[in-house]
Amino acid sequence: MRKKSGHMKVDDVISAVEGGWEFTDEVADHFDSHVRKSIPLYEEIQDMTVNLSEWFIHNGSTVYDIGASTGETIHRLQRKHASKENVIFTGIDNSEKMVKHARKKVSARNVRFLCQDVLQTEFEEADLIISLFTLQFLGIAERTKVLHRLFQSLRSGGALILGEKVLAEEGRFDEIWVELYWDFKRSQGLTDDQILHKARSIRGVLRPITLTEHIKLLRETGFNSIDVFLKWCNFAGIVAMKTSAQSVQSTGFEAIANVRGVSKPESISASGDQHTDD
Ligand SMILES: C[S@@+](CC[C@H](N)C(=O)[O-])C[C@H]1O[C@@H](n2cnc3c(N)ncnc32)[C@H](O)[C@@H]1O
Repeated sequence: MRKKSGHMKVDDVISAVEGGWEFTDEVADHFDSHVRKSIPLYEEIQDMTVNLSEWFIHNGSTVYDIGASTGETIHRLQRKHASKENVIFTGIDNSEKMVKHARKKVSARNVRFLCQDVLQTEFEEADLIISLFTLQFLGIAERTKVLHRLFQSLRSGGALILGEKVLAEEGRFDEIWVELYWDFKRSQGLTDDQILHKARSIRGVLRPITLTEHIKLLRETGFNSIDVFLKWCNFAGIVAMKTSAQSVQSTGFEAIANVRGVSKPESISASGDQHTDD
């Protein structure tokens, strides 16, 4: 059923327009329920992220969560590492309403949530950077730029944990993954109409790439130790470590630019350095 002015229901209480998915106040108010109906193994990905964090968070560590939404990941991380000293957790999200919910959920003194666009964020030196299901909303040029910033801000021995919706490596599996994904959504109580409407609303907004492209991009950004900690059809969890302070050799952009047919952003030079005007 369609609502007025092209709005379609994508969940019982959330509506969106075709090709116009946004993290609106309405989405933020119902996000905790909607995300669990939309991302298979959501709880497991959160748990694994927190478990993995034990290898990277120490006394005095700085930790970022990009696309923190309502603060679920930081909430769990803060509790897990409560006995460590001087650990600072920063959640970044460009939705004010999400940030408001996150601040309500986690009020510990070593946690802050900033309402910022990741493209504008100035990162301090960090030991762990997490971004679950957020970079997938950036185009390849922006994603490449952000990955370079993240790599540069990580200390040697630090890690990036990514959760991403991914494309299948081969077309024939894409169809199977998508249908299994729709089965999952149905099992969570979403109706066929809501599933279809959500798919229409994220057209051109969610920009997934394949797992192979992710790994190539991360490697060319400078990450030299990369592995997949979770894979469910068209969803993946990736951990990438910066094991030395080596400078970036290439922009990483070339890794997938040919496949996607896009040109290099002007703000990234061939050496991976960014011009000062961005
Ligand atoms: C799918 S949600 C992330 C889910 C969350 N990480 C979790 O594990 O529950 C994507 C989030 O990224 C935020 N976001 C999207 N684009 C962003 C950007 N350019 N800068 C900062 N946050 C962004 C949205 O507001 C939304 O809260």
